[in-house]
Parts: sequence; structure tokens; C-alpha cells
Amino acid sequence: LKRDERFSQLTPEHVNYFRELLGKESAVIDGVSSDSAADDLEPFNSDWMRKYRGHCKLALRPGSTEEVSKILKYCNDKKLAVVPQGGNTGLVGGSVPVFDEIVISMGRMNQIHEFDEVSGTLVVDAGVILETADHFLAEKGYIFPLDLGAKGSCQIGGNLSTNAGGLRLLRYGSLHGTVLGIEAVLPDGTIIDDLCKLRKNNTGYDIKQLFIGSEGTIGIITKATIQCPQRSKAQNVAYFGLESFEKVQQAFREAKGQLSEILSAFELMDEGSQTLVTDVTKNRRPLDDKYPFYCLIETSGSNSDHDSEKLQAFLEDVMEKGIVLDGTLAQDETQIKALWGWREGITEALSHLGSAYKYDVSIPLKQMYQLVEDTRARVDEAGLLGDTDEHPVRAVIGYGHMGDSNLHLNVSTRRYDERVEKVLEPFIYEWIAERQGSISAEHGLGIAKKKYIGYSRSATMIGLMKQIKGLYDPVSLSLVVAWAPLLKHTKVHN
Ligand code: FAD
Ligand code: MLT
Ligand code: ZN
Repeated sequence: LKRDERFSQLTPEHVNYFRELLGKESAVIDGVSSDSAADDLEPFNSDWMRKYRGHCKLALRPGSTEEVSKILKYCNDKKLAVVPQGGNTGLVGGSVPVFDEIVISMGRMNQIHEFDEVSGTLVVDAGVILETADHFLAEKGYIFPLDLGAKGSCQIGGNLSTNAGGLRLLRYGSLHGTVLGIEAVLPDGTIIDDLCKLRKNNTGYDIKQLFIGSEGTIGIITKATIQCPQRSKAQNVAYFGLESFEKVQQAFREAKGQLSEILSAFELMDEGSQTLVTDVTKNRRPLDDKYPFYCLIETSGSNSDHDSEKLQAFLEDVMEKGIVLDGTLAQDETQIKALWGWREGITEALSHLGSAYKYDVSIPLKQMYQLVEDTRARVDEAGLLGDTDEHPVRAVIGYGHMGDSNLHLNVSTRRYDERVEKVLEPFIYEWIAERQGSISAEHGLGIAKKKYIGYSRSATMIGLMKQIKGLYDPVSLSLVVAWAPLLKHTKVHN
């Protein structure tokens, strides 16, 4: 990629404008007028995986929607490129600058504004951390309808912008259903006030949906209204081992049938993923023996005894039928957390051990794990498996949200290595396209997959996306198309 020189270079004059606008020292981190901020800018420039790196010289931390509006208007007028940043936990390189874009970091907009204890509607700033919102809701007997491993750092604005799926989509559905309203700022500074609190509102196009999952390409989300469900009084978790992916599918089918309304998560882990977690945490495995596959089932209901009886009966039944080989039920809150750690801890373990090529994909359920096997065979054939400098791949593993047909294929390597990447791409995307899957199930396109969008979307769809981009951000479309042949998907607002 080459920087488009039609975008302006930052000058001390620009920086002065932002200093006057935002005032407070902590709101402007400036490496333009002096080099002293280089270290302070470092976290804004590199992503969670340490794979993507930009060179921003300025990070702005607005404290209100009006400030976001003024920043964007000024950048639009002066042709300064920007990138919105939430908790910077995204896994496709969308939250960091590609070149020298100004980072607009949303962390200071972190107020919980309103909560209606009868309807369950929550109004928050975009910069509220997911876990903070969930703790607030727990005290009121409610739950945030999204949960994921990065909850301690990711922000609600970032979650909406990526349309994050997470661990309980199976139960609470997608954010496209649970977000009732949005306030956002367009690239020219226009504030869109659609902070609706109504469950139903069929008055024309539902514009807010475009902001959910568009990764900051058409504007910055500043507030949101979320429909939150009642928190279940009882939670139970089981972890079990199975001999094949065929059996995993049977177990899923049985779980839906036998646990029906109390089933709140059905997650998949293969043996390779659990080995990595063991290597990093040194924790004792939940089961004595090793199995090719493991599943984690969570139930959420209103009666703990009743639910655990149901789960126990389910486990006995699937073991009797030979679907499951061994299993364990958490007995208390600590054990629930520990079992979840074997699933939620995989991402962290992967990053601990070096680098990972991450593929977050949707595949029709029957064929889902075949991708891991085919990729492993391909990497092996290319002589890259071995965990040595010459053969840098440690493992090819699969885990994910079985309940949503969402696989996380990960290739764990000593370091990012072009030889590995060449073997993986476009092979994986072609494999998925042949089976009508999606190259991005829940993490988005970011910079990682932008050029591969054509594997999952038709030319007609991409054309419509370009038109929408042109409508919301007219000037940058024409400017950026030159280096984004399929779709301008970087947050560069002229
Ligand atoms: P960032 O990473 O800061 O940004 C993500 C994108 O949104 C970027 O394109 C950015 O420009 C844009 N953006 C951020 N804030 C705004 C805003 N206010 N307005 C407009 N655009 C904005 N994802 C899942 O879907 N499911 C999971 O289970 C899951 N688990 C994870 C576990 C771990 C350990 C990690 C590190 C990540 C995980 N993710 C998961 C990926 C990630 O998408 C989510 O963590 C989260 O949704 C990103 O939120 P964030 O605030 O960190 O956004
Ligand atoms: C997960 O489900 O654990 C996340 O999406 C993160 C990942 O893909 O590693
Ligand atoms: Zn996931």
C-alpha cells in the first residue's frame, strides 16, 4: 500500500487547533510539534496481535459528541485522514492507522447515561468498556446481550462497529437485533441522532443498521441504546470430550433438543487448542484423558437445581449413546470460570506463544472442521510444520462458536513469515468461497481481509457498498479507491 498524497500532512497549526478545541492535556497526544510523545503514541499505533503498525503522530481523545463532530468536520475540511479506535482489541487490523491517520480514541466518552429497569434499555457512550456495562447491569439483575474474551478492554462502540458475535449469540442474538438506537457523527461533522429506545420502529429505512459492522467506515458511533435481557439466576457449565467432529454435531443436535430454552452457549475446541492453553497456563486439564475434540456447554435458567439436573441427564444420555466419551460439570462459580478459561483463554495463549494467522470464518456446519484438517495437511506438505526457525508453524488449530457455525482457524507460528502466509492465502479464502461460506464471520474485514471481500460478496453487493460509502463520505471515496481496488475499507476521511 502507498500513502495517497492527496491527504494532507499534519502540521503544528492543525495540532494547535485540536489543542484549543479539546483543551485538556490528556486529550491530545502530539508527536508532531515534539518527539517526546513517541512512547505515548505507541499503543495507538500497534494492534492487539502486534501484526499491524501505523505511524500516527497525533491521537485525539474527545470527551463529547460535539467534540467528535468538530474534529471530523475540521479533518474533512483540511483533508486529514482519521481512524476511530475503541479498546483496540480488534483482530483484523482495523483499529490502527495504516499510514499517519489521526487516531480518534473513544475512551474518554465512558458514561452510562440511562437504564430503564422495567424495559431493560440501556443508553451508553461508545467508549464504555463492555465489562463495565455488564457489571453495572448485574447489579440491576440484567445482562449485556454480548460477551467475549476481550470484555475487560473492548468498548461498546467497537463492539457495534465490528458487530461482534461472541460467546452467547446463540442465546441473545446479533447486535443487529439488540441495538435499538445509535448516535453517530458523519465524516463532515453531521450528528445523526437516532438514539431510539423503542423495540419497534418501522418508519422507513433502519439507518442505524449500517453502522453496525461497518468498522468505522461511514462515521463514528458516539452513543447507543441496547436492549438488555434479564440476567438468569442460574448458570451451569459442562465440558466434555468427543472422538470426532461427527460426534460434536450429534452432541449439538442433542443439546438443542434436550436443553432447548436454557442452552446459552455451545462452544468447540480441538485438542490442539487445549494443548496450547495447557502449555501457557500449566493448569490441570478438566478431563483426565485427551480427546480430539471438546465442547463447552453453558445453560442459563431460573432454577439452578432444575438446570443442573437437566444438564446432568443430558450428559448421561449422550455418554450412554456413545456421543460423548467423558465430561465434567462445574460445581460452583470458581469452576465455571475455570472451565470457561479453557475456551476464552485460547486467543491469549496463542499470542503468548508467538504469532498467529487468524481466520474467523463461517462455513456450513457439516464441513466446518474439514478446513482445519485441509489447512494442516497443506502446511505440512509445504514443510512448514515443526516449531523451529526453518519450520516455523507450531500448530494448526480450530475452535469457535459451534452454535453459530463460526470457526476460528488459527495457525500458530514462531513469527509472522511470508512463506506461511503464501501457503495459507488465498487457499483458505478459495476453500470457503467454494462452500458458500463467509471469510469474515464476526471480526470484520479491517486491513487484513479488505482485498479478499470478493470471495464472500458479489460485484453487485460491493458496488452497492461503494455507493453507500460515497453517500456518507463523498470525497474520500474518490480519493481512496486508487489503493483499495475492491472496496475502500480504511477509515480515511479526506
Ligand atoms: P477496536 O479494536 O478499537 O476497533 C474495531 C473496529 O471498529 C475498527 O475498525 C475501528 O476503527 C472501529 N471503531 C471502534 N470504535 C468505533 C466507534 N466508536 N465508532 C466507529 N468505529 C469504531 N470478536 C467477536 O466478535 N467475538 C469474540 O468472541 C471475540 N473475542 C475476542 C477475544 C479476544 C481476547 C480479543 C483480543 C478479541 C476478540 N474479538 C472478538 C475481536 C474484537 O472484534 C472485539 O474484541 C471487539 O468487538 C472490538 O472492540 P474494540 O473496542 O476493541 O474495537
Ligand atoms: C474467540 O471466539 O475466542 C474470539 O473471536 C477470538 C479469536 O478468534 O481468537
Ligand atoms: Zn469468536
